[in-house]
Amino acid sequence: AEVVIVPDAAAAGEIAAHEIEKLVRRKPDAVLGLATGSTPLTTWAALAARHLDLTGVRGFALDEYVGLPVGHPESYRAVIDREVVGPLGLTPSLVHVPADSGRIETAGDDYEVAIDAAGGIDLQVLGIGRTGHVGFNEPGSSFASLTRVKTLAQQTRIDNARFFDSLEAVPTHCVTQGLGTILRARRLVLLAFGEAKAGIVADALEGPLTASVPASVIQLHPRVMVIVDDAAASGLA
Ligand code: F6R
Repeated sequence: AEVVIVPDAAAAGEIAAHEIEKLVRRKPDAVLGLATGSTPLTTWAALAARHLDLTGVRGFALDEYVGLPVGHPESYRAVIDREVVGPLGLTPSLVHVPADSGRIETAGDDYEVAIDAAGGIDLQVLGIGRTGHVGFNEPGSSFASLTRVKTLAQQTRIDNARFFDSLEAVPTHCVTQGLGTILRARRLVLLAFGEAKAGIVADALEGPLTASVPASVIQLHPRVMVIVDDAAASGLA
C-alpha cells in the first residue's frame, strides 16, 4: 500500500478529497464506496468545500445496521443522507445503502447485483475498526465474502454506543459489503486516526494476511492508499 502519514485528520481529508476530485473530473458518474462513522467526516468536509458538481456521482454505502426502524437517525441510510448526500450535493436516488428494500433475506445478493449493474466501485473509502474490521467484516470473515448479514463484535457495539442512548440500543447485526466486495473496488482509500487505531493499523499493514485481522485483506489489493495521522501511524515499523 501507499502509506501517507499526515499531522491530523483535516490534512488526511484534504488528500482523500483530492483523490476523489481527480476521479470525478475524469469520470463525472464515478461510483464511490462510502464509509460511515467518524473517520470519513473530514474527507466529506474537504470535498464539500471544493464545490464540485457531484450530481452524477453514484454511491454505495459499506454497511447498514439491521433492526433499526426506518428513518432512525443512526441508521446508515439516515447518516449517509445527512452527512454525505446533503453536504456533497449528491443525487439521492443514485446513493444506495444495503437493505434499502427492507428485505433482509435478499439484501446481500441485491446489493451485489446493484454494484455490478453500476459497473463496480471506482473508489472505496474505508475506515478501520479496533477489531480490525473494514465495513463490518469482523474477525473470522472470509477474504472472499460478499455482501451479507453479519453479527457485530461486542467491541464494535461498545465503540459505536456513542451514537446511541445506551449499549443495549446498538443493533447486534448488520448487512455489510464483504471483503471480496471490497477487494473488487478498483481503488481503496483507507483512513485511520488516533492512538486507539495504531495497533490495528500496524497489524493490518504489516502483519500476516489473516481472517483474524480482516483489514489485512487490503494487502492483496494493487491500488491502496492508506492515510493515517501520526498517532495512528505510531505502531508502524
Ligand atoms: C462504517 C464502517 C466501519 C468504520 C469503523 C471505524 O461504515 O464500515 O468499518 O469505518 O468502524 O469507525 P470510526 O470511523 O467511527 O472510528
